[in-house]
Amino acid sequence: MPTPVAALSAALIDVDALAGAKGRIGLVVAPGAKLDVAARRINRLTKGALVRMVESDAFEALKPGQSMTMGYPAGMEASEIVVVSCPRRPAAPLARKVGAAMAKGAKGPVLACLGATARAADIALGAALRSYAYTDMKSAADAPETAFTFMVSKPEELTAALPEVTAMAEGVFFTRDLVSAPANVLTTTSFADQLIALGDLGVKVEVLEEADMEKLGMGCLLGVGIGSEMPSKIVVMRWENGDKEAAPLALVGKGVTFDTGGISLKPAGGMEDMTMDMGGAGVVSGVMHALAKRGAKANVIGLVGLVENMPDGKAQRPGDVVTSMKGDTVEVINTDAEGRLVLADVMWYAQDRFQPAAMIDLATLTGAVIVALGHENAGVFSNDDALCNAFLKAASTEGEGAWRMPLGDGYAELLKSPIADVKNVGTRWGGAVTAAEFLRRFVAEGTPWIHLDIAGVAKPAGEGDLAPKGASGWGVLSLDRLVRDMFEA
Ligand code: BES
Ligand code: MN
Ligand code: ZN
Repeated sequence: MPTPVAALSAALIDVDALAGAKGRIGLVVAPGAKLDVAARRINRLTKGALVRMVESDAFEALKPGQSMTMGYPAGMEASEIVVVSCPRRPAAPLARKVGAAMAKGAKGPVLACLGATARAADIALGAALRSYAYTDMKSAADAPETAFTFMVSKPEELTAALPEVTAMAEGVFFTRDLVSAPANVLTTTSFADQLIALGDLGVKVEVLEEADMEKLGMGCLLGVGIGSEMPSKIVVMRWENGDKEAAPLALVGKGVTFDTGGISLKPAGGMEDMTMDMGGAGVVSGVMHALAKRGAKANVIGLVGLVENMPDGKAQRPGDVVTSMKGDTVEVINTDAEGRLVLADVMWYAQDRFQPAAMIDLATLTGAVIVALGHENAGVFSNDDALCNAFLKAASTEGEGAWRMPLGDGYAELLKSPIADVKNVGTRWGGAVTAAEFLRRFVAEGTPWIHLDIAGVAKPAGEGDLAPKGASGWGVLSLDRLVRDMFEA
């Protein structure tokens, strides 16, 4: 069952509803500005407690988006009032933080008094995103049922925007659910089944099985999955709702449902984290979900390579040489550098079949990108400045960290193999870049391309502004934004 997005609704400001409202009330207070009607009513009901709070040094020290909570206010039925400091006209990422502050820890319905604060839809999106919890593996559902009512000065405007807000949150939740699921539950087959279900939203879905991939000569991808009992698959999702003539955007995702490292086995400590090694495929799936749900007027093809990397008597060995669909031979020095092998064939297939206007791949590809950028930014690699800058702008608009990293022939040199066309690992240094250089071999001349290494951001170590600890869904909003900016009429 997908994790449902909390119910969101808009209402006209009704100060008479405040005294009797149960549960949590959220209130936006702009520092230095006059209190709005809702705040003035709450202040009157609480006999001045609100003014004492917002005039305190502690409140004045809050950064925009931070909050203070008043518990069990006298004179009101509410159990708490979360007062968020925020200027009247926040940018989108700040507005989302405001919503998140109102949602975090809520155990029931929330009445959010936004007054005339701009970007109410972004506040609603932040609230929806922050109220996510992954509870599928709990025997007793303990997800609190939250619902948000946003009191605003123009409820019709917000009401009109909310279906799209819900569509975006559903896309992000789809990604988070996939990334959170353990590998015995999210197998290549059950992953593909969940994508086939996107057919209900109007996405055209096809599955390539191992026999199909053999015919296509996808030796790189097949070699990775050969040690697993789970069948390797490629799922192709087509959302074709744009200009008939327009070449599509191709999104390609690494979907390693579990990465043991294979024969180059990973150490036991922390290996369980490799349930998230399908994070790239998870983001691609979430974007397709969001595009379909909001009815994007664009042509976007999502392709995911689903494989499991296991050690086995049949598994591929270090030193094996495999042949890619492109025709290049690859010496597999390290079976743990498997993501690039999967992507090589899916990327080549995507270009061969769809001649995309641009291609973006996403992968939890290297530990090295985490060494470089931590959990704050995804690594961005590109052969095309215009496309890359458009993506970086989209990511900054959406508040998702993204930082451009270099490519260069000097790095590609490190991938020279004595016996094959290329080997799958370089030296210890610059591991995120050599991985990107490996992928670049499989980008056809003239295809604008971005590689996003999301190993550090797909499931960060701690909680985020818009997500509890666990899967973030990083990238769904930025890629949707890029589609709006560049690929939609
Ligand atoms: N899936 C891992 C990368 C990874 C590491 C993702 C940590 C998320 C968190 C990838 O397949 C891998 O094992 N990469 C190796 C490459 C090395 C063998 C060249 C790595 O980063 O150590
Ligand atoms: Mn690996
Ligand atoms: Zn991996």
